[in-house]
Amino acid sequence: MDNKKLVAQRIAEHVDMDVLEIEKLVEIPPKSDMGDFAFPCFILAKVLRKAPPMIAIELMEKINKEGFEKIVNNGPYLNFFVDKTMLIKKTIDKILIEGLEYGNTTNGDGETILVEYSSPNIAKPFHVGHLFTTVIGNSLYKSYKSQGYDVERINHLGDTGTQFGKLISAYKKWGDEEALEKEPIKELLRIYVKFHDEAEKNPELVEEGRMYFKRLEDGSEEEVALWKRFRELSLKEFMKVYEMLGVEFDSYAGESFYSDKIDELVEMIEKTGLLVESQGAQVIDLEEYNMPPCIVKKADGATIYATRDLAAATYRKKKYDFSKNIYVVGKDQTLHFNQVFKSLELMGFEWAKDCIHVPFGMVRFADKKLSTRKGDVIFLEDLLNEAVNKTLSIINEKNPELENKEEVAKEVGIGAIIFTYLKNNRTRDIVFNWDEMLSFEGETGPYTQYTYARGKSILRKLGTVEEEADYSLLNSKEEFELVKILENLELAIKSSIDKLEPSIITRYVLDVAKAFNKFYNAHNIANSESEELKNARLKLVEATCVVIKKSLDLLGIKVVEKM
Ligand code: ARG
Repeated sequence: MDNKKLVAQRIAEHVDMDVLEIEKLVEIPPKSDMGDFAFPCFILAKVLRKAPPMIAIELMEKINKEGFEKIVNNGPYLNFFVDKTMLIKKTIDKILIEGLEYGNTTNGDGETILVEYSSPNIAKPFHVGHLFTTVIGNSLYKSYKSQGYDVERINHLGDTGTQFGKLISAYKKWGDEEALEKEPIKELLRIYVKFHDEAEKNPELVEEGRMYFKRLEDGSEEEVALWKRFRELSLKEFMKVYEMLGVEFDSYAGESFYSDKIDELVEMIEKTGLLVESQGAQVIDLEEYNMPPCIVKKADGATIYATRDLAAATYRKKKYDFSKNIYVVGKDQTLHFNQVFKSLELMGFEWAKDCIHVPFGMVRFADKKLSTRKGDVIFLEDLLNEAVNKTLSIINEKNPELENKEEVAKEVGIGAIIFTYLKNNRTRDIVFNWDEMLSFEGETGPYTQYTYARGKSILRKLGTVEEEADYSLLNSKEEFELVKILENLELAIKSSIDKLEPSIITRYVLDVAKAFNKFYNAHNIANSESEELKNARLKLVEATCVVIKKSLDLLGIKVVEKM
Protein backbone atom coordinates (compact mmCIF):
# COMPACT_ATOMS: atom_id res chain seq x y z
CA MET A 1 0.00 0.00 0.00
CA ASP A 2 1.34 3.43 -0.75
CA ASN A 3 1.74 5.86 2.10
CA LYS A 4 -0.94 8.28 0.98
CA LYS A 5 -3.46 5.45 1.17
CA LEU A 6 -2.16 4.54 4.60
CA VAL A 7 -2.63 8.12 5.78
CA ALA A 8 -6.19 8.15 4.44
CA GLN A 9 -6.98 4.84 6.07
CA ARG A 10 -5.74 5.95 9.46
CA ILE A 11 -7.87 9.09 9.30
CA ALA A 12 -10.89 7.10 8.12
CA GLU A 13 -10.76 5.07 11.33
CA HIS A 14 -11.86 8.18 13.20
CA VAL A 15 -13.87 10.19 10.74
CA ASP A 16 -17.17 9.42 9.09
CA MET A 17 -15.97 9.80 5.54
CA ASP A 18 -15.09 7.53 2.64
CA VAL A 19 -11.39 6.56 2.46
CA LEU A 20 -11.21 7.51 -1.19
CA GLU A 21 -12.67 10.92 -0.43
CA ILE A 22 -10.12 11.42 2.31
CA GLU A 23 -7.31 10.31 0.05
CA LYS A 24 -8.23 13.02 -2.42
CA LEU A 25 -7.94 15.62 0.33
CA VAL A 26 -4.53 14.51 1.59
CA GLU A 27 -1.90 17.03 0.54
CA ILE A 28 1.83 16.96 0.02
CA PRO A 29 3.26 19.79 2.18
CA PRO A 30 5.35 22.42 0.40
CA LYS A 31 8.32 21.91 2.76
CA SER A 32 9.78 18.64 4.00
CA ASP A 33 9.98 19.88 7.63
CA MET A 34 6.19 19.89 7.50
CA GLY A 35 6.13 16.16 6.95
CA ASP A 36 5.43 13.94 3.97
CA PHE A 37 1.64 14.34 4.01
CA ALA A 38 -0.83 16.75 5.49
CA PHE A 39 -4.54 16.57 6.13
CA PRO A 40 -6.49 19.86 6.22
CA CYS A 41 -8.86 19.50 9.19
CA PHE A 42 -11.01 22.52 8.38
CA ILE A 43 -12.80 20.25 5.94
CA LEU A 44 -14.35 18.52 8.96
CA ALA A 45 -15.20 21.72 10.83
CA LYS A 46 -18.76 21.96 9.60
CA VAL A 47 -19.74 18.40 10.39
CA LEU A 48 -17.98 18.22 13.73
CA ARG A 49 -18.89 21.81 14.69
CA LYS A 50 -15.44 22.40 16.10
CA ALA A 51 -12.54 24.67 15.33
CA PRO A 52 -10.08 23.07 12.88
CA PRO A 53 -7.05 23.27 15.22
CA MET A 54 -9.12 21.48 17.88
CA ILE A 55 -9.97 18.75 15.44
CA ALA A 56 -6.31 18.39 14.50
CA ILE A 57 -5.29 18.00 18.14
CA GLU A 58 -7.98 15.42 18.87
CA LEU A 59 -7.16 13.40 15.78
CA MET A 60 -3.49 13.55 16.58
CA GLU A 61 -4.12 12.03 19.99
CA LYS A 62 -6.37 9.22 18.77
CA ILE A 63 -4.75 8.17 15.54
CA ASN A 64 -2.81 4.91 15.11
CA LYS A 65 0.77 5.99 14.47
CA GLU A 66 2.27 2.68 13.34
CA GLY A 67 4.35 3.11 10.23
CA PHE A 68 4.94 6.79 10.98
CA GLU A 69 7.83 8.46 12.64
CA LYS A 70 5.40 10.98 14.06
CA ILE A 71 2.03 12.54 13.42
CA VAL A 72 1.68 16.11 14.71
CA ASN A 73 -0.89 18.86 14.62
CA ASN A 74 0.09 22.12 13.03
CA GLY A 75 -2.71 24.66 13.26
CA PRO A 76 -5.61 23.32 11.24
CA TYR A 77 -3.38 20.68 9.67
CA LEU A 78 -2.42 17.23 10.76
CA ASN A 79 1.10 16.49 9.50
CA PHE A 80 2.35 12.98 8.84
CA PHE A 81 6.01 12.03 8.88
CA VAL A 82 6.45 8.56 7.46
CA ASP A 83 8.79 6.17 9.21
CA LYS A 84 11.80 6.61 6.94
CA THR A 85 13.54 3.39 7.83
CA MET A 86 10.41 1.41 7.17
CA LEU A 87 9.80 3.16 3.88
CA ILE A 88 13.39 2.63 2.77
CA LYS A 89 13.35 -1.04 3.71
CA LYS A 90 9.97 -1.67 2.12
CA THR A 91 10.97 0.04 -1.12
CA ILE A 92 14.45 -1.39 -1.58
CA ASP A 93 13.41 -4.91 -0.60
CA LYS A 94 10.50 -4.82 -3.00
CA ILE A 95 12.68 -3.62 -5.87
CA LEU A 96 15.38 -6.19 -5.26
CA ILE A 97 12.89 -9.03 -4.94
CA GLU A 98 10.79 -8.08 -7.94
CA GLY A 99 13.62 -7.02 -10.22
CA LEU A 100 12.38 -5.97 -13.63
CA GLU A 101 8.82 -6.83 -12.60
CA TYR A 102 8.98 -3.89 -10.22
CA GLY A 103 6.23 -1.38 -11.04
CA ASN A 104 4.04 -4.05 -12.65
CA THR A 105 0.45 -4.61 -11.53
CA THR A 106 -2.49 -6.70 -12.66
CA ASN A 107 -4.84 -3.72 -12.84
CA GLY A 108 -5.58 -4.34 -16.51
CA ASP A 109 -6.43 -8.04 -16.25
CA GLY A 110 -9.11 -9.05 -18.70
CA GLU A 111 -9.02 -5.84 -20.71
CA THR A 112 -7.78 -5.58 -24.27
CA ILE A 113 -6.08 -2.45 -25.54
CA LEU A 114 -5.21 -1.91 -29.19
CA VAL A 115 -2.27 0.31 -29.90
CA GLU A 116 -1.89 1.22 -33.54
CA TYR A 117 1.42 2.84 -34.34
CA SER A 118 4.16 3.29 -36.92
CA SER A 119 1.92 2.55 -39.95
CA PRO A 120 4.30 3.70 -42.70
CA ASN A 121 3.32 3.72 -46.35
CA ILE A 122 4.86 1.01 -48.45
CA ALA A 123 7.07 2.02 -51.36
CA LYS A 124 7.80 5.26 -49.53
CA PRO A 125 10.56 6.13 -47.10
CA PHE A 126 10.04 5.63 -43.41
CA HIS A 127 10.46 9.20 -42.23
CA VAL A 128 11.14 11.02 -38.97
CA GLY A 129 7.42 11.36 -38.25
CA HIS A 130 6.94 7.61 -38.52
CA LEU A 131 9.76 7.21 -36.04
CA PHE A 132 7.82 9.42 -33.62
CA THR A 133 4.67 7.27 -33.73
CA THR A 134 6.82 4.14 -33.55
CA VAL A 135 8.53 5.09 -30.30
CA ILE A 136 5.40 6.50 -28.64
CA GLY A 137 3.39 3.42 -29.57
CA ASN A 138 6.10 1.05 -28.41
CA SER A 139 6.28 2.79 -25.04
CA LEU A 140 2.50 2.82 -24.58
CA TYR A 141 2.44 -0.85 -25.44
CA LYS A 142 5.06 -1.66 -22.82
CA SER A 143 3.40 0.48 -20.17
CA TYR A 144 -0.04 -1.07 -20.70
CA LYS A 145 1.50 -4.51 -20.75
CA SER A 146 3.22 -3.87 -17.42
CA GLN A 147 -0.16 -3.17 -15.87
CA GLY A 148 -1.55 -6.53 -16.95
CA TYR A 149 -3.54 -5.49 -20.03
CA ASP A 150 -3.74 -7.63 -23.12
CA VAL A 151 -2.21 -5.41 -25.74
CA GLU A 152 -2.37 -5.86 -29.51
CA ARG A 153 0.22 -3.95 -31.50
CA ILE A 154 -1.14 -3.02 -34.88
CA ASN A 155 0.78 -1.67 -37.84
CA HIS A 156 -1.84 -0.18 -40.15
CA LEU A 157 0.40 -0.19 -43.22
CA GLY A 158 -0.48 2.24 -45.99
CA ASP A 159 -0.48 -0.48 -48.61
CA THR A 160 -3.23 0.42 -51.00
CA GLY A 161 -4.49 3.41 -52.93
CA THR A 162 -4.28 4.94 -56.37
CA GLN A 163 -0.53 5.56 -56.03
CA PHE A 164 0.06 1.87 -56.61
CA GLY A 165 -1.40 2.17 -60.09
CA LYS A 166 1.16 4.86 -60.82
CA LEU A 167 3.92 2.79 -59.31
CA ILE A 168 3.06 -0.23 -61.41
CA SER A 169 2.97 1.88 -64.51
CA ALA A 170 6.30 3.50 -63.62
CA TYR A 171 7.91 0.18 -62.84
CA LYS A 172 6.89 -1.29 -66.16
CA LYS A 173 8.55 1.60 -67.95
CA TRP A 174 11.64 2.42 -65.93
CA GLY A 175 11.99 -0.17 -63.22
CA ASP A 176 15.49 -1.45 -62.50
CA GLU A 177 15.27 -5.02 -61.29
CA GLU A 178 18.66 -5.04 -59.62
CA ALA A 179 18.16 -1.76 -57.80
CA LEU A 180 14.77 -2.95 -56.61
CA GLU A 181 16.32 -5.96 -54.94
CA LYS A 182 19.16 -3.99 -53.43
CA GLU A 183 17.54 -0.79 -52.24
CA PRO A 184 13.83 -1.24 -52.85
CA ILE A 185 12.51 1.92 -51.23
CA LYS A 186 15.02 4.12 -52.98
CA GLU A 187 14.26 2.53 -56.31
CA LEU A 188 10.50 2.78 -55.81
CA LEU A 189 10.85 6.38 -54.74
CA ARG A 190 13.01 7.11 -57.79
CA ILE A 191 10.49 5.77 -60.26
CA TYR A 192 7.59 7.34 -58.39
CA VAL A 193 9.21 10.76 -58.57
CA LYS A 194 10.01 10.16 -62.23
CA PHE A 195 6.41 9.23 -62.89
CA HIS A 196 5.26 12.55 -61.47
CA ASP A 197 7.82 14.51 -63.43
CA GLU A 198 6.90 12.75 -66.66
CA ALA A 199 3.19 13.04 -65.99
CA GLU A 200 3.50 16.79 -65.95
CA LYS A 201 4.66 16.69 -69.54
CA ASN A 202 2.47 13.77 -70.51
CA PRO A 203 -0.93 13.73 -68.74
CA GLU A 204 -1.84 10.44 -70.41
CA LEU A 205 0.35 8.76 -67.86
CA VAL A 206 -2.14 9.62 -65.13
CA GLU A 207 -4.83 7.79 -67.05
CA GLU A 208 -2.52 4.83 -67.44
CA GLY A 209 -1.87 4.78 -63.69
CA ARG A 210 -5.57 4.75 -63.05
CA MET A 211 -6.02 1.83 -65.39
CA TYR A 212 -3.35 -0.18 -63.59
CA PHE A 213 -4.95 0.59 -60.26
CA LYS A 214 -8.28 -0.66 -61.55
CA ARG A 215 -6.63 -3.86 -62.72
CA LEU A 216 -4.99 -4.25 -59.34
CA GLU A 217 -8.33 -3.82 -57.59
CA ASP A 218 -9.98 -6.28 -59.95
CA GLY A 219 -7.36 -8.85 -59.00
CA SER A 220 -5.45 -9.02 -62.27
CA GLU A 221 -2.62 -11.45 -61.75
CA GLU A 222 0.32 -9.45 -63.05
CA GLU A 223 -0.54 -6.28 -61.17
CA VAL A 224 -1.31 -8.10 -57.96
CA ALA A 225 2.01 -9.91 -58.17
CA LEU A 226 3.89 -6.64 -58.61
CA TRP A 227 2.04 -5.00 -55.73
CA LYS A 228 2.79 -7.98 -53.52
CA ARG A 229 6.44 -7.69 -54.36
CA PHE A 230 6.55 -3.98 -53.59
CA ARG A 231 4.84 -4.67 -50.30
CA GLU A 232 7.17 -7.47 -49.29
CA LEU A 233 10.31 -5.59 -50.23
CA SER A 234 9.14 -2.50 -48.38
CA LEU A 235 8.26 -4.50 -45.33
CA LYS A 236 11.69 -6.06 -45.36
CA GLU A 237 13.23 -2.59 -45.29
CA PHE A 238 10.94 -1.45 -42.48
CA MET A 239 11.87 -4.55 -40.54
CA LYS A 240 15.49 -3.42 -40.51
CA VAL A 241 14.47 -0.25 -38.72
CA TYR A 242 12.16 -2.13 -36.34
CA GLU A 243 14.97 -4.49 -35.51
CA MET A 244 17.37 -1.66 -34.81
CA LEU A 245 14.78 -0.17 -32.48
CA GLY A 246 13.68 -3.46 -30.95
CA VAL A 247 10.07 -2.82 -31.97
CA GLU A 248 7.57 -5.55 -32.85
CA PHE A 249 3.96 -5.89 -33.96
CA ASP A 250 1.23 -8.48 -33.57
CA SER A 251 -0.57 -7.51 -36.75
CA TYR A 252 0.34 -5.93 -40.04
CA ALA A 253 -3.26 -5.68 -41.17
CA GLY A 254 -2.89 -2.51 -43.20
CA GLU A 255 -5.25 -0.65 -45.45
CA SER A 256 -5.38 -3.35 -48.14
CA PHE A 257 -6.58 -5.84 -45.54
CA TYR A 258 -9.94 -4.05 -45.49
CA SER A 259 -10.57 -4.05 -49.25
CA ASP A 260 -12.91 -7.03 -49.04
CA LYS A 261 -14.68 -5.67 -45.98
CA ILE A 262 -15.78 -2.41 -47.56
CA ASP A 263 -19.00 -3.61 -49.23
CA GLU A 264 -20.39 -4.84 -45.96
CA LEU A 265 -19.47 -1.57 -44.30
CA VAL A 266 -21.14 0.54 -46.98
CA GLU A 267 -24.28 -1.59 -46.70
CA MET A 268 -24.29 -1.05 -42.97
CA ILE A 269 -23.97 2.71 -43.33
CA GLU A 270 -26.72 2.71 -45.94
CA LYS A 271 -29.08 0.94 -43.55
CA THR A 272 -28.61 3.66 -40.98
CA GLY A 273 -29.71 6.20 -43.58
CA LEU A 274 -26.58 8.23 -43.02
CA LEU A 275 -25.23 7.90 -46.51
CA VAL A 276 -26.05 10.90 -48.66
CA GLU A 277 -24.94 12.00 -52.09
CA SER A 278 -22.76 15.02 -52.46
CA GLN A 279 -21.37 16.00 -55.87
CA GLY A 280 -21.67 12.40 -57.00
CA ALA A 281 -19.84 11.04 -53.97
CA GLN A 282 -21.38 9.04 -51.12
CA VAL A 283 -20.73 10.80 -47.84
CA ILE A 284 -21.72 11.04 -44.20
CA ASP A 285 -22.77 14.60 -43.55
CA LEU A 286 -21.04 16.17 -40.55
CA GLU A 287 -22.01 19.78 -41.05
CA GLU A 288 -23.88 19.82 -37.76
CA TYR A 289 -20.57 19.08 -36.04
CA ASN A 290 -18.65 21.73 -37.95
CA MET A 291 -16.71 19.25 -39.97
CA PRO A 292 -16.48 18.54 -43.68
CA PRO A 293 -18.35 15.39 -44.70
CA CYS A 294 -16.71 11.99 -44.24
CA ILE A 295 -16.36 10.60 -47.75
CA VAL A 296 -17.24 6.93 -48.01
CA LYS A 297 -17.12 6.48 -51.77
CA LYS A 298 -15.82 8.87 -54.35
CA ALA A 299 -17.81 9.72 -57.46
CA ASP A 300 -16.00 6.98 -59.42
CA GLY A 301 -16.93 4.45 -56.75
CA ALA A 302 -13.43 4.23 -55.30
CA THR A 303 -13.02 4.12 -51.54
CA ILE A 304 -10.63 6.37 -49.65
CA TYR A 305 -8.43 6.40 -46.57
CA ALA A 306 -11.38 7.25 -44.30
CA THR A 307 -13.51 4.41 -45.67
CA ARG A 308 -10.80 1.96 -44.78
CA ASP A 309 -10.53 3.42 -41.29
CA LEU A 310 -14.26 2.96 -40.74
CA ALA A 311 -13.93 -0.63 -41.87
CA ALA A 312 -10.85 -1.15 -39.71
CA ALA A 313 -12.50 0.13 -36.53
CA THR A 314 -15.60 -2.05 -36.90
CA TYR A 315 -13.46 -5.05 -37.76
CA ARG A 316 -11.23 -4.47 -34.73
CA LYS A 317 -14.17 -4.21 -32.37
CA LYS A 318 -15.49 -7.54 -33.62
CA LYS A 319 -12.14 -9.28 -33.54
CA TYR A 320 -10.67 -7.94 -30.29
CA ASP A 321 -13.58 -6.47 -28.33
CA PHE A 322 -11.18 -3.74 -27.24
CA SER A 323 -11.74 -1.46 -24.29
CA LYS A 324 -9.54 1.09 -25.99
CA ASN A 325 -8.55 1.47 -29.64
CA ILE A 326 -5.61 3.85 -29.72
CA TYR A 327 -4.22 5.53 -32.86
CA VAL A 328 -0.79 7.06 -32.53
CA VAL A 329 -0.79 9.35 -35.57
CA GLY A 330 0.52 12.89 -36.20
CA LYS A 331 -1.56 15.88 -35.20
CA ASP A 332 -2.04 16.83 -38.85
CA GLN A 333 -4.58 13.98 -39.03
CA THR A 334 -6.72 15.21 -36.15
CA LEU A 335 -9.61 16.25 -38.39
CA HIS A 336 -9.54 12.90 -40.17
CA PHE A 337 -9.89 11.00 -36.90
CA ASN A 338 -12.57 13.35 -35.61
CA GLN A 339 -14.55 12.65 -38.77
CA VAL A 340 -14.07 8.90 -38.51
CA PHE A 341 -14.94 8.72 -34.80
CA LYS A 342 -17.99 10.97 -35.21
CA SER A 343 -19.19 8.84 -38.14
CA LEU A 344 -18.85 5.70 -36.03
CA GLU A 345 -20.83 7.35 -33.27
CA LEU A 346 -23.56 8.34 -35.72
CA MET A 347 -23.64 4.77 -37.00
CA GLY A 348 -24.76 3.87 -33.49
CA PHE A 349 -21.60 2.35 -32.10
CA GLU A 350 -21.37 3.27 -28.46
CA TRP A 351 -17.75 2.10 -28.48
CA ALA A 352 -16.84 5.02 -30.75
CA LYS A 353 -15.95 6.80 -27.52
CA ASP A 354 -13.23 4.22 -26.91
CA CYS A 355 -11.43 5.14 -30.12
CA ILE A 356 -8.67 7.55 -29.22
CA HIS A 357 -6.38 9.58 -31.42
CA VAL A 358 -3.01 10.18 -29.77
CA PRO A 359 -1.45 13.03 -31.76
CA PHE A 360 2.14 14.22 -31.70
CA GLY A 361 4.17 17.16 -32.95
CA MET A 362 6.43 17.81 -35.89
CA VAL A 363 10.12 17.09 -36.13
CA ARG A 364 12.70 19.63 -37.23
CA PHE A 365 16.45 19.76 -37.34
CA ALA A 366 18.55 22.48 -35.80
CA ASP A 367 21.48 21.31 -37.86
CA LYS A 368 20.37 21.56 -41.48
CA LYS A 369 23.45 19.73 -42.63
CA LEU A 370 22.14 16.37 -41.55
CA SER A 371 22.71 14.02 -44.44
CA THR A 372 19.61 14.25 -46.55
CA ARG A 373 20.13 12.50 -49.79
CA LYS A 374 17.15 13.88 -51.54
CA GLY A 375 15.27 17.08 -51.03
CA ASP A 376 14.01 17.37 -47.49
CA VAL A 377 13.30 13.69 -46.97
CA ILE A 378 15.44 12.42 -44.16
CA PHE A 379 16.07 8.73 -44.44
CA LEU A 380 15.60 7.12 -41.12
CA GLU A 381 18.44 4.70 -41.53
CA ASP A 382 20.74 7.67 -42.10
CA LEU A 383 19.46 9.30 -38.96
CA LEU A 384 20.00 6.21 -36.83
CA ASN A 385 23.40 5.51 -38.34
CA GLU A 386 24.51 9.06 -37.81
CA ALA A 387 23.52 8.87 -34.15
CA VAL A 388 25.49 5.65 -33.75
CA ASN A 389 28.57 7.04 -35.53
CA LYS A 390 28.58 10.25 -33.57
CA THR A 391 28.25 8.32 -30.33
CA LEU A 392 31.13 6.11 -31.36
CA SER A 393 33.39 9.11 -31.81
CA ILE A 394 32.35 10.47 -28.41
CA ILE A 395 33.24 7.13 -26.84
CA ASN A 396 36.55 7.06 -28.69
CA GLU A 397 37.35 10.37 -27.08
CA LYS A 398 36.07 9.68 -23.57
CA ASN A 399 36.78 6.03 -23.08
CA PRO A 400 38.87 4.59 -25.92
CA GLU A 401 39.62 1.39 -24.01
CA LEU A 402 35.96 0.39 -23.71
CA GLU A 403 35.11 -3.14 -24.88
CA ASN A 404 32.26 -3.66 -27.38
CA LYS A 405 32.42 -0.03 -28.44
CA GLU A 406 30.21 -0.61 -31.49
CA GLU A 407 27.58 -2.38 -29.48
CA VAL A 408 27.55 0.37 -26.85
CA ALA A 409 27.46 3.12 -29.47
CA LYS A 410 24.45 1.45 -31.05
CA GLU A 411 22.40 1.30 -27.86
CA VAL A 412 23.44 4.74 -26.70
CA GLY A 413 23.03 6.42 -30.11
CA ILE A 414 19.62 4.91 -30.77
CA GLY A 415 18.63 5.41 -27.14
CA ALA A 416 19.51 9.09 -27.48
CA ILE A 417 17.12 9.47 -30.41
CA ILE A 418 14.27 7.64 -28.70
CA PHE A 419 14.83 9.70 -25.57
CA THR A 420 14.73 12.95 -27.53
CA TYR A 421 11.41 11.96 -29.05
CA LEU A 422 9.90 11.03 -25.70
CA LYS A 423 11.38 13.74 -23.53
CA ASN A 424 8.66 16.37 -23.79
CA ASN A 425 4.90 16.39 -24.09
CA ARG A 426 4.24 14.56 -27.30
CA THR A 427 2.28 17.37 -28.95
CA ARG A 428 5.27 19.66 -28.74
CA ASP A 429 7.40 19.96 -31.86
CA ILE A 430 10.86 18.48 -31.66
CA VAL A 431 14.06 20.12 -32.72
CA PHE A 432 16.88 17.68 -33.21
CA ASN A 433 20.19 18.98 -32.04
CA TRP A 434 22.99 16.45 -32.10
CA ASP A 435 25.25 18.04 -29.50
CA GLU A 436 22.42 18.40 -27.08
CA MET A 437 20.87 14.96 -27.46
CA LEU A 438 24.13 13.00 -27.42
CA SER A 439 25.57 14.81 -24.43
CA PHE A 440 26.35 12.66 -21.39
CA GLU A 441 25.14 15.49 -19.20
CA GLY A 442 21.84 17.31 -19.14
CA GLU A 443 18.45 15.77 -19.75
CA THR A 444 19.42 13.13 -22.26
CA GLY A 445 19.25 9.42 -22.90
CA PRO A 446 23.04 9.03 -22.61
CA TYR A 447 22.90 10.74 -19.21
CA THR A 448 20.47 8.16 -17.84
CA GLN A 449 22.38 5.27 -19.42
CA TYR A 450 25.61 6.68 -18.04
CA THR A 451 24.09 6.88 -14.58
CA TYR A 452 23.09 3.23 -14.83
CA ALA A 453 26.59 2.26 -15.98
CA ARG A 454 28.07 4.25 -13.10
CA GLY A 455 25.90 2.32 -10.64
CA LYS A 456 26.93 -0.96 -12.21
CA SER A 457 30.57 -0.02 -12.03
CA ILE A 458 30.24 0.71 -8.31
CA LEU A 459 28.63 -2.69 -7.81
CA ARG A 460 31.37 -4.40 -9.81
CA LYS A 461 34.05 -2.71 -7.72
CA LEU A 462 32.50 -3.01 -4.28
CA GLY A 463 30.35 -6.08 -4.80
CA THR A 464 26.64 -6.66 -4.35
CA VAL A 465 25.38 -7.41 -0.86
CA GLU A 466 23.50 -10.62 -0.17
CA GLU A 467 22.63 -10.27 3.51
CA GLU A 468 20.04 -7.96 5.11
CA ALA A 469 21.10 -4.36 5.44
CA ASP A 470 20.49 -1.95 8.28
CA TYR A 471 18.46 0.74 6.54
CA SER A 472 18.23 2.95 9.60
CA LEU A 473 21.75 4.02 8.66
CA LEU A 474 20.54 5.64 5.44
CA ASN A 475 19.60 8.84 7.17
CA SER A 476 20.88 11.53 4.85
CA LYS A 477 18.59 13.77 2.84
CA GLU A 478 20.02 12.55 -0.47
CA GLU A 479 19.42 8.91 0.36
CA PHE A 480 15.86 9.46 1.45
CA GLU A 481 15.02 11.64 -1.55
CA LEU A 482 16.32 8.94 -3.89
CA VAL A 483 14.26 6.23 -2.19
CA LYS A 484 11.13 8.35 -2.34
CA ILE A 485 11.55 8.67 -6.10
CA LEU A 486 12.28 4.97 -6.55
CA GLU A 487 9.04 4.27 -4.74
CA ASN A 488 7.06 6.14 -7.40
CA LEU A 489 7.65 4.07 -10.52
CA GLU A 490 4.20 2.51 -10.45
CA LEU A 491 2.58 5.93 -10.17
CA ALA A 492 4.61 7.17 -13.13
CA ILE A 493 3.51 4.22 -15.27
CA LYS A 494 -0.13 4.71 -14.32
CA SER A 495 0.00 8.37 -15.10
CA SER A 496 1.73 7.76 -18.44
CA ILE A 497 -1.11 5.42 -19.39
CA ASP A 498 -3.86 7.73 -18.12
CA LYS A 499 -2.49 10.64 -20.07
CA LEU A 500 -1.15 8.52 -22.94
CA GLU A 501 2.07 10.38 -22.40
CA PRO A 502 5.37 8.44 -22.33
CA SER A 503 7.22 11.64 -21.42
CA ILE A 504 6.03 11.07 -17.85
CA ILE A 505 8.31 8.05 -17.71
CA THR A 506 11.13 9.91 -19.41
CA ARG A 507 10.83 12.64 -16.78
CA TYR A 508 10.66 10.02 -14.09
CA VAL A 509 13.88 8.31 -15.11
CA LEU A 510 15.58 11.70 -15.28
CA ASP A 511 14.46 12.34 -11.70
CA VAL A 512 15.88 9.00 -10.65
CA ALA A 513 19.20 9.70 -12.36
CA LYS A 514 19.46 13.20 -10.90
CA ALA A 515 18.65 12.00 -7.39
CA PHE A 516 21.15 9.18 -7.75
CA ASN A 517 23.92 11.51 -8.86
CA LYS A 518 23.20 13.86 -5.97
CA PHE A 519 23.51 10.93 -3.61
CA TYR A 520 26.65 9.71 -5.35
CA ASN A 521 28.31 13.14 -5.21
CA ALA A 522 27.41 13.75 -1.58
CA HIS A 523 28.60 10.42 -0.19
CA ASN A 524 31.72 8.44 -0.78
CA ILE A 525 30.30 4.95 -0.88
CA ALA A 526 33.62 3.09 -0.80
CA ASN A 527 34.73 5.04 2.26
CA SER A 528 31.47 4.92 4.17
CA GLU A 529 31.89 5.34 7.92
CA SER A 530 31.03 1.71 8.52
CA GLU A 531 30.76 -1.54 6.63
CA GLU A 532 27.05 -1.65 7.51
CA LEU A 533 26.46 1.78 6.03
CA LYS A 534 28.38 0.83 2.91
CA ASN A 535 26.23 -2.29 2.54
CA ALA A 536 23.00 -0.36 2.91
CA ARG A 537 24.21 2.12 0.31
CA LEU A 538 25.17 -0.64 -2.09
CA LYS A 539 21.64 -2.01 -1.82
CA LEU A 540 20.38 1.42 -2.71
CA VAL A 541 22.70 1.55 -5.72
CA GLU A 542 21.51 -1.86 -6.85
CA ALA A 543 17.86 -0.86 -6.50
CA THR A 544 18.48 2.32 -8.46
CA CYS A 545 20.01 0.32 -11.31
CA VAL A 546 16.95 -1.93 -11.42
CA VAL A 547 14.61 1.05 -11.59
CA ILE A 548 16.59 2.83 -14.30
CA LYS A 549 16.79 -0.32 -16.38
CA LYS A 550 13.07 -0.97 -16.00
CA SER A 551 12.08 2.63 -16.76
CA LEU A 552 14.28 2.80 -19.84
CA ASP A 553 12.85 -0.51 -20.99
CA LEU A 554 9.37 1.02 -20.78
CA LEU A 555 10.63 3.66 -23.19
CA GLY A 556 12.14 1.07 -25.52
CA ILE A 557 15.72 1.99 -24.56
CA LYS A 558 18.37 -0.54 -23.58
CA VAL A 559 21.01 -0.08 -20.93
CA VAL A 560 24.71 -0.87 -21.27
CA GLU A 561 26.79 -2.23 -18.42
CA LYS A 562 29.80 -0.06 -19.22
CA MET A 563 30.19 3.13 -21.18
N1 ARG B 1 -0.10 5.52 -43.29
C1 ARG B 1 -0.50 6.77 -42.70
C2 ARG B 1 0.59 7.82 -42.89
O1 ARG B 1 1.74 7.48 -43.06
C3 ARG B 1 -0.79 6.65 -41.24
C4 ARG B 1 -1.90 5.69 -40.89
C5 ARG B 1 -2.58 6.07 -39.64
N2 ARG B 1 -3.55 5.12 -39.21
C6 ARG B 1 -4.82 5.09 -39.56
N3 ARG B 1 -5.58 4.16 -39.05
N4 ARG B 1 -5.31 5.92 -40.42
O2 ARG B 1 0.31 8.99 -42.82
